Amino acid sequence: MLFIKTFSFFILYINLAVCEKFRFDNYSVFKIIPETEQQYQILQDIRRDDPRYDFWTDPLPLREFVNVMSSPGDKTYLEDILQKNEIKYEIVMQNIQEAIDEEIVNTFTRSGIRNMEWNAYYNLNDINGWLDDLVATYPNTVSRIIGGVSYEGRDIRGIKISHGSGRRAIFIESGIHAREWISPATTCYIINELLTSNHTETRAAARDYDWYIFPVTNPDGYIWSHEQFRMWRKNRQPYGTNFGVDLNRNWNNNWLVAGSSSNPALDTYAGPGPFSEPETRSLSSYIQSIGDQIDMYIATHSFGHLLLLPFGNSTEPYGNYHDAMNIGRRAMGALSVRYGTMYRTGNIAEAIYRATGGSVDWVKEQIKVPLVYVYEFRDNGTYGFLLPPSQILPNSEEVMDSLLELIHQAKRLGYLNSSSRFYASIYICLSAFLITLLR
Ligand SMILES: *[C@@H]1O[C@H](CO)[C@@H](O)[C@H](O)[C@H]1NC(C)=O
Ligand SMILES: *[C@@H]1O[C@H](CO)[C@@H](O)[C@H](O)[C@H]1NC(C)=O
Ligand SMILES: *[C@@H]1O[C@H](CO)[C@@H](O)[C@H](O)[C@H]1NC(C)=O
Ligand SMILES: *[C@@H]1O[C@H](CO)[C@@H](O)[C@H](O)[C@H]1NC(C)=O
Ligand SMILES: *[C@@H]1O[C@H](CO)[C@@H](O)[C@H](O)[C@H]1NC(C)=O
Ligand SMILES: [Zn+2]
Repeated sequence: MLFIKTFSFFILYINLAVCEKFRFDNYSVFKIIPETEQQYQILQDIRRDDPRYDFWTDPLPLREFVNVMSSPGDKTYLEDILQKNEIKYEIVMQNIQEAIDEEIVNTFTRSGIRNMEWNAYYNLNDINGWLDDLVATYPNTVSRIIGGVSYEGRDIRGIKISHGSGRRAIFIESGIHAREWISPATTCYIINELLTSNHTETRAAARDYDWYIFPVTNPDGYIWSHEQFRMWRKNRQPYGTNFGVDLNRNWNNNWLVAGSSSNPALDTYAGPGPFSEPETRSLSSYIQSIGDQIDMYIATHSFGHLLLLPFGNSTEPYGNYHDAMNIGRRAMGALSVRYGTMYRTGNIAEAIYRATGGSVDWVKEQIKVPLVYVYEFRDNGTYGFLLPPSQILPNSEEVMDSLLELIHQAKRLGYLNSSSRFYASIYICLSAFLITLLR
């Protein structure tokens, strides 16, 4: 056993040492616009069975289009299928390596929080260095938190922003899909705003709630996407000759029921069992440990201009679904004001599509967090994951606008009361007491 482990580490080491960063020369991206249920079905079948094509988005009607990446060699075959079935498409990027080359990745210089910029992406060390600086700069409000550990032994690092005890909490989970770089970038911006903004509403949001924020919940995958393979989505645990589990299909809620795969070669591989991965197992127990404080849970992804609600297995509205929808829609209205970016709000599951094993379903079902949302940030299919750095700031600003509106609308409907659960539990205790008396 020890021998096998040593051996596989050796192979891994060789791979790391020899591997050059993968180049995507002449890889192209299709924007496909299915119009009938049958056409959606064809795309879902390709996604399920053909590992040659990288689906950048799920084939679901809420999105209106599907982005698929193809190598130069496999492109004609895909075009043939699409043409034969009269499915509309265009090729939006002929050579994605060009877009990759335009993604500026900055290096952050420690000991000067001013050095984090919003026109470039950062690798994990730089994000963590910045978080360390924040803890040092704001020792009374910011503390270092560890949400868990990755397969390769890295901490899942985050920060807690708190202006005192007894506050209800808002939790932000980002970067669970490695290649969605705008997710950690925008989350860092949110952290920065909560700490430095002079805007009244932002300051109130920072002051009134405890914030638990994790910019990169898939650290191994994130590093891999920076250093080896830009389009990496999963974590890095090896399964046979393949690597990685889709960490947003691995949570213990309707695991492997829909929209995920048991094939380790695919990007939606759900893993050998629920919570098989150190990242999801450890992060979920962290969430559980503070679960009774959380009133709002937000997971950030890209891309597609969407705000999604649980559950991924069913379109049935659950308890406070209509409130959650109402709050979400109004927040997306606020998002559109600054730059006109239109988001749609909807259920993860749709008439012909389901996706289960994601974090938010588990959080909603197990932790009973009242308000749970998934953002799919910019853009809507032009650059996809390769969002130009010039869009980091506008994306972040409009998302911040919507976050404040989420809070505002939630409060309006009676959520996010600083002491709501406290009073709720007093109420329950009192009624139990009265009932006992009356007997
Ligand atoms: C990409 O395609 C162009 C045009 O067909 C060709 O000239 C070039 O050699 C290709 N590049 C690579 C790396 O395959
Ligand atoms: C907020 O106000 C403080 C003190 O007035 C100032 O030093 C700081 O630069 C302001 N921050 C922003 C982001 O405008
Ligand atoms: C969907 O999942 C939720 C949470 O696990 C469960 O309560 C519900 O019954 C499921 N619905 C269907 C249609 O499977
Ligand atoms: C994409 O978003 C832009 C800006 O919100 C909008 O103008 C455009 O119509 C959208 N396109 C699609 C296909 O949704
Ligand atoms: C939250 O506060 C509002 C207004 O103070 C109140 O109407 C509502 O019942 C409270 N909600 C809970 C869950 O305590
Ligand atoms: Zn994602």
